Amino acid sequence: MTHGSSTSFMVKRTPLLSIEQLELSYYEPKKIVPVVQNVSFQLYPGETVALVGPSGCGKSITAQAIVGLLEPGFKVTNGSIIYKNENVSKFTNKQLQKLRRDEISLLIQHSLNGLNPIRTVKKQMIETLKYQKRWKKKEMEPYLHSLLQQIGFTDPDYILASYPFELSGGMRQRVLLAMMISLRPKLLIADEPTTALDVINRDKVLNLLKMVQRDYNLTVLLISHDKQSVKHTADRVVQMGLGGIVSESTATLQCF
Ligand SMILES: Nc1ncnc2c1ncn2[C@@H]1O[C@H](COP(=O)(O)OP(=O)(O)OP(=O)(O)O)[C@@H](O)[C@H]1O
Ligand SMILES: [Mg+2]
Repeated sequence: MTHGSSTSFMVKRTPLLSIEQLELSYYEPKKIVPVVQNVSFQLYPGETVALVGPSGCGKSITAQAIVGLLEPGFKVTNGSIIYKNENVSKFTNKQLQKLRRDEISLLIQHSLNGLNPIRTVKKQMIETLKYQKRWKKKEMEPYLHSLLQQIGFTDPDYILASYPFELSGGMRQRVLLAMMISLRPKLLIADEPTTALDVINRDKVLNLLKMVQRDYNLTVLLISHDKQSVKHTADRVVQMGLGGIVSESTATLQCF
């Protein structure tokens, strides 16, 4: 039997995602305006990191850049986004689509209205699963049923048969999370998932995030204004300033 040598404790963990000196700019007709500069932070497998900072500092566009969904006019003008040792900012559209399908899910800000109001939850969840092409038709419904149950819905059949307008904001947000999680991403980016919710629903969504992080071995980037959310959910806090400078804190909330 061999004994672990002390060097094994010195093995450096490899980040799942590493943002390095990222600069994002907006292209105006006659000039290029940097919107976010000097953003650097890492996410290690299995941790929940909160990205906080004042409104307008660029949290959402950073999240959009990570999955290659920057709005028209925005471009990565410096730095890199390294996911599993590959530079995502150099990816083709096809590679980005695969990244979003198999690796990283982004729950976008203001996504509460992201569900189609005139299609049942079941139809929309099945459409999401079809995107991956690895699900057999007959497996989908039982899978969604058990997923919704795990997520804390006591009557998954009722939820699946519902139209979004029949559900409360908190329920819709949990359905959206379930939709993201159904693809079994490695990294979930949740952009302000609780801001539109009341306290009870906020806690439900946060507990859910914690639960999926643990049970599905997810890495989570939680973008939030809400100090309570951050305090209860994150292992680490990354603070973004208006100049885009980022400071990090391992002790949650020490940076506020
Ligand atoms: N479509 C757009 N066109 C032009 N500028 C934009 C657009 N979207 C965002 N911006 C600008 O980019 C900057 C970063 O915006 P972003 O939405 O990423 O901020 P945020 O940190 O997510 O803010 P909040 O906390 O309010 O969600 C802001 O200065 C904003 O005005
Ligand atoms: Mg935002």
